[in-house]
Amino acid sequence: MYSEKVMDHFSNPRNVGEIENASGMGTVGNAKCGDIMRMYLDIDEDTKIIKDCKFKTFGCGAAVATSSMATELVKGKTIYEALEVTNKAVMEALDGLPPVKVHCSVLAEEAIHAALWDYAKKNNIQIDGLKEPKADIGDEE
Ligand code: FES
Repeated sequence: MYSEKVMDHFSNPRNVGEIENASGMGTVGNAKCGDIMRMYLDIDEDTKIIKDCKFKTFGCGAAVATSSMATELVKGKTIYEALEVTNKAVMEALDGLPPVKVHCSVLAEEAIHAALWDYAKKNNIQIDGLKEPKADIGDEE
């Protein structure tokens, strides 16, 4: 049912943890399953490159695997390029997900967007194409 890549990222997730004084942080949840994902970004002030990205997921295996892959994909990208890391891109990188698990990958995309939104807000900048996250349930503001 799951690809080898999904199983690999689920059993050995990359970039799990927190970033202290993160440049941006976003927390999103899925109302249906109750799963929660939090993403931390460390962004270089000058180049706007994402130097580090960590996540915490209180969710299903597919949520863990997609967040893990998403962190790998955004690292080294600029905040503008990071918008290309859509749930579709994450799923492709994982060689697909079963249809019932597609919503889990949406959580990863939303968490990245919420963290970028947080960064943009803190720094008073605009990231073209980035919309205000509808489901930011962050509690550290
Ligand atoms: Fe909730 Fe996967 S079942 S994120």
